[in-house]
Amino acid sequence: MLDLVVRNAVLPDGREGMTIGCEKGRIVTLSRDVVAEAERVIDAQACLVSPPFVDAHFHMDSALTYGRPRVNRSGTLLEGIALWGELKPSLTHDEICERALELCRWAVARGTLAIRSHVDVCDPSLRAVKALLEVRELVKREIDLQLVAFPQDGFLRSPVAETTLPAALELGVDVVGGIPHFERTMAEGAASVERLCRIAADRGLLVDMHCDESDDPLSRQVEVLARETIRHRLQGRVVGSHLTAMHSMDNYYVSKLIPLMHEAEMTAIANPLINITLQGRHDTYPKRRGMTRVKELLEAGVNVACGHDCVMDPWYPLGSHDMLDVAHMGLHVGQMTGSLEMRKMFDCVTVNAARALHLDGYGLEPGCWADMVLLQAHSAVDAIRLRPARLAVIRRGRVIAETPRAVPTVHLAGKTAAVTFHVKKALSPSGEINATSPGPI
Ligand code: FE2
Repeated sequence: MLDLVVRNAVLPDGREGMTIGCEKGRIVTLSRDVVAEAERVIDAQACLVSPPFVDAHFHMDSALTYGRPRVNRSGTLLEGIALWGELKPSLTHDEICERALELCRWAVARGTLAIRSHVDVCDPSLRAVKALLEVRELVKREIDLQLVAFPQDGFLRSPVAETTLPAALELGVDVVGGIPHFERTMAEGAASVERLCRIAADRGLLVDMHCDESDDPLSRQVEVLARETIRHRLQGRVVGSHLTAMHSMDNYYVSKLIPLMHEAEMTAIANPLINITLQGRHDTYPKRRGMTRVKELLEAGVNVACGHDCVMDPWYPLGSHDMLDVAHMGLHVGQMTGSLEMRKMFDCVTVNAARALHLDGYGLEPGCWADMVLLQAHSAVDAIRLRPARLAVIRRGRVIAETPRAVPTVHLAGKTAAVTFHVKKALSPSGEINATSPGPI
């Protein structure tokens, strides 16, 4: 007898009527056959079952601090950094842990079971590092929390980061971070990239740098990051986060840059919610969107993932840690409304993000971890459109979060009707009209 069976599921690739059998925390069967014997059977009722959402870029140490010590009046990146500098000394170990655990509850409720969080190492006491290492341990049964040693004030510019960043790695932080565009000069930015890639290569670690997070069309740090990736033989192990300057770069230059990123097997991470609000602030009109070239990078075969980046912190007053909000915004900002493009945005918050994090055993195939999300939607595109209830969130074959199905009742024009937000004929993931109407939802 299996531990768990999820039957009558639609998968993100469009396969319908699928049954997923789970045993000892792993998926053991995936087929159209009905597997009857299981301790628990969940009828998906023709709804979408997806691998869990993955947040490829987040800041857990600052999450849920909005308004402390005061709100960000201008809403800009630089006022956010200044506010964070004021707030940092007042944070305590327990308070950071409490906020992080609360954020993890929000994430699980939304079906996100892996988060890569940058953690600021520009603090001689490494208070946030120690707190988040503790949280990583506390939540490991439910969430894969990966930590990046992030020198917020600049690896070379900060008076302490050259010491504290390696110390954070010694304590067990997983990934080497950086912020070359925040160093004093372009040359020092490049020097920081070289130093940090060497640290990662020497220690056998992954790299994920905030890179070219500006509207400067001449910012060139991602080019340096790609070059250093190849030089240090870190292909497939390096992420460039934000890359917003690519939005403003000269098209000819980008036609050379994207193949270089491809050669370096880099992942590009966009943070649509944050990029659309923080970039273009010096523009009058037209205002640039600031999101990196998601569509073109994907077309060139570069792995592209998305992150939430912030939830209610000095940089962003909104959010509930929903990766479908991220995909929804990314789709709009990137004008990715082609049927296949919408489907690709779903990958950016699931499989592509899992690849960026080097997650082990991720996916809906026999042998993978029995981690999945049942959504009140009929397809991946439907999920982005509706951002619906996560009916069940499953980790290692165990249901760890549930949300009731929501079906509003509307009294209109003398009739009472249940609203499902679905038309009778649904679009398939490939964009074709299905002959049959979707099942109950
Ligand atoms: Fe960030």
